[in-house]
Amino acid sequence: MSESANLISFDTRYSVPPVETIGDSPAEIFSKQQRIARLKEERNAVILAHNYQRDEVQEIADYVGDSLGLSQQAAATPADVIVFCGVHFMAETAAILCPEKTVLLPDLRAGCSLAATISADELRAWKKRYPDAVVVAYVNTSAEVKAESDYCCTSANAAKVVRAIPADRPILFIPDKFLATVVARETGRANIIVYPGYCHVHRTIRPAQVLSMMEENPDIELLIHPECGCVSSCMARVADGTLPRERTFFLSTEGMMRHIADSGADEFAIGTEVGMLHRLRKAAPQKRFRPVNPEAVCEFMKTITLDRILHSLEILEPQICVPPEIARRARRAIDRMLEIV
Ligand code: 13P
Ligand code: SF4
Repeated sequence: MSESANLISFDTRYSVPPVETIGDSPAEIFSKQQRIARLKEERNAVILAHNYQRDEVQEIADYVGDSLGLSQQAAATPADVIVFCGVHFMAETAAILCPEKTVLLPDLRAGCSLAATISADELRAWKKRYPDAVVVAYVNTSAEVKAESDYCCTSANAAKVVRAIPADRPILFIPDKFLATVVARETGRANIIVYPGYCHVHRTIRPAQVLSMMEENPDIELLIHPECGCVSSCMARVADGTLPRERTFFLSTEGMMRHIADSGADEFAIGTEVGMLHRLRKAAPQKRFRPVNPEAVCEFMKTITLDRILHSLEILEPQICVPPEIARRARRAIDRMLEIV
């Protein structure tokens, strides 16, 4: 059975915003960036941006990174205001870690299809079926779901978190089935119970696209995010030799950054959301980066624009707050992760 045929549809749980085309000239972009920089100083704010943000948003950020790096930055910042250029669950994580700070998410439409695949009620029902299991929640979950979980993890540390759990304890791994598959392979654990969630963007990165990219570019290195719909197939093809073991890597977005700095290769096929290419190209302008699927665009991430950041800094809205009792319980799971990494 193909991987896509095996997917439960969660599509009715979220609405995908359209991607706006911004027609600003370079001078207009520069002027907005200057205004943001001034307002940021006045508000004592820090701008944190995920690797999938628009290029011009990445350019004004104090820090650009993956989910793990962003939560570490949020936990450490001395700023009063955090402008979170990412999606809702990431801003919630910042609000949980810094309850005394103002956390802004410039557009509330910035949700996440993967986080929408599991609710706290669904997790509670699932836990009843496996009462001995330890719950490991990917960071792409709501604060309420994290509050029901034992450990949080990101794609950068999921295997490390799973290894920290005694081998005889079953693990409920939520919500991403593709990441769970990679973690099960990396840890060799057979007692991982996999929730069937997925990201609507990464699922579109398909085995056929990977294979044709590799065939057309014989020396290219393949960097695949573990949320991608092609991961099981790619792992099987590494095992049977169709994909070169020495040139195929399953990596978080920050893992990709580290990999290209150390690799001797000149060309990379990038299997993740296309925003990542800006950061990679900036870090290594002499190397070539090709998206495995150029249409893998996260509409949620792209709702954050310079205009919305400006407006948000002007009015200090929309603010993300997590009710204290949920925050307290969710924080346990996040802190356990931060202690391991
Ligand atoms: P990273 O943690 O690798 O940044 O991935 C998180 C993610 O999927 C954001 O969409
Ligand atoms: Fe969520 Fe997927 Fe967008 Fe990441 S790329 S924020 S997992 S919808």
